[in-house]
Amino acid sequence: MVIPSLIQHKRDGHALQPAQWSELIREYTGGRVPDYQMSALLMAVVWRGLAPEELAALTDAMLDSGDRLRFDGFAMSRVDKHSTGGVGDKVSLLLAPMVASCGVAVPMMSGRGLGHTGGTLDKLESIAGFRTALTLQEARAQVERLGCAMLGQTPEIAPADKRLYALRDVTGTVESIPLIAASIMSKKLAEGLNGLVLDVKTGSGAFLPQPARAIELAQTMIGLGQVRGCPTVALLTAMDRPLGRACGNALEVEEAIEGLSGEGPEDLMEVTYALGVEMLLLVGAAKDAADARSRLEESITSGKARQKFAQVIEAQGGNPAVVEDPSVFPQAAEVEVYRAPRDGVIAQVEPRRLGQAILELGGGRRAIEDEIDPSVGFVIPAKPGQRVRAGEPLASVFARDPDGIEIGLAALREAIVIKDKGRLTRLITHRVTSDGVTQLT
Ligand code: URA
Repeated sequence: MVIPSLIQHKRDGHALQPAQWSELIREYTGGRVPDYQMSALLMAVVWRGLAPEELAALTDAMLDSGDRLRFDGFAMSRVDKHSTGGVGDKVSLLLAPMVASCGVAVPMMSGRGLGHTGGTLDKLESIAGFRTALTLQEARAQVERLGCAMLGQTPEIAPADKRLYALRDVTGTVESIPLIAASIMSKKLAEGLNGLVLDVKTGSGAFLPQPARAIELAQTMIGLGQVRGCPTVALLTAMDRPLGRACGNALEVEEAIEGLSGEGPEDLMEVTYALGVEMLLLVGAAKDAADARSRLEESITSGKARQKFAQVIEAQGGNPAVVEDPSVFPQAAEVEVYRAPRDGVIAQVEPRRLGQAILELGGGRRAIEDEIDPSVGFVIPAKPGQRVRAGEPLASVFARDPDGIEIGLAALREAIVIKDKGRLTRLITHRVTSDGVTQLT
């Protein structure tokens, strides 16, 4: 292949042939195309986009660069949920055991924290001993036994995406709708699913803050899923404030367990139920939305979902005692309350600033080899629209030392904006399917 001419062609706004994309991805994954040429091509895609046939060929080539989870002869339907990422988004931790308790298998493959957003794998690893690096055989065996496994992208799944993603992360080429769509869908389509639900975040804490761009991303991923035998539906949900109260790895798992115990914050439960309803409907496991919702509620009131989570933790080497006793989680050495500096109404709780502060506190990675401190973060019960009095507690910072407390308090001072007026925006704004977009009112 003559890579420079492909780069020039794309740079000048022309489409590459599907066969050229297939060969390019094969050569790149095989180490025969250097990163500098691939970076130039990715930047051309950021500027020029991809024609539908190019996107299809790129996604298929990434998917075919590795193996897939295979469930031949396994009768249970399989469904997963993917979030485009946010702050305080611990929905996966609740949904996987809830949906599995309703008799639908969930082979959930998740990622690590990315930029200011948290990752399900990092959260799960705050449970002592929890092993997210399952092999494909282990994942399949666990899904068949328990109806649920929670794992990371194995080396066999979409290795082209693994390389490309690392390259995009350091070359300013993440924020491209076709590249994000191909990256996410090449992994999800390798899970052997019968349905996929996407939680596409919008607002200041999302990678694509504008609703119109989020809808375009949702439609692009739905298009890829539908024609590859994986019915796909998306909900657009607000990430202009953190979801729930807890932000930070162990704190979020603790809050997810509260949710599984029937004591979760209202916004977290609303998003969880809405996505869960879509998951059950997609694979025909409920008559209608009301039936799906009541089955999911029953998974909580009966204690089945909580028990399922304990079984998954135990099966993956973690300490299931966390489900009964939150003191088993790693505890922050320092905790400090942040109080309202004035009377007024909360106008903003800015998630991006809080996510960046969690990184500074040691709760995320700045370099691949960084160790995460699972205990650090925030608990922020305050929400936009809430009237507050000066001196009222709004949030707590969890840090490993007094310097961390200062970092956390400074972030809260900037992130929580109090004015004379403020309001909470709608939590779930749009439903997107292959038939179109519905604005929810
Ligand atoms: N998540 C992914 O897996 N890939 C992207 O490109 C962005 C978010």
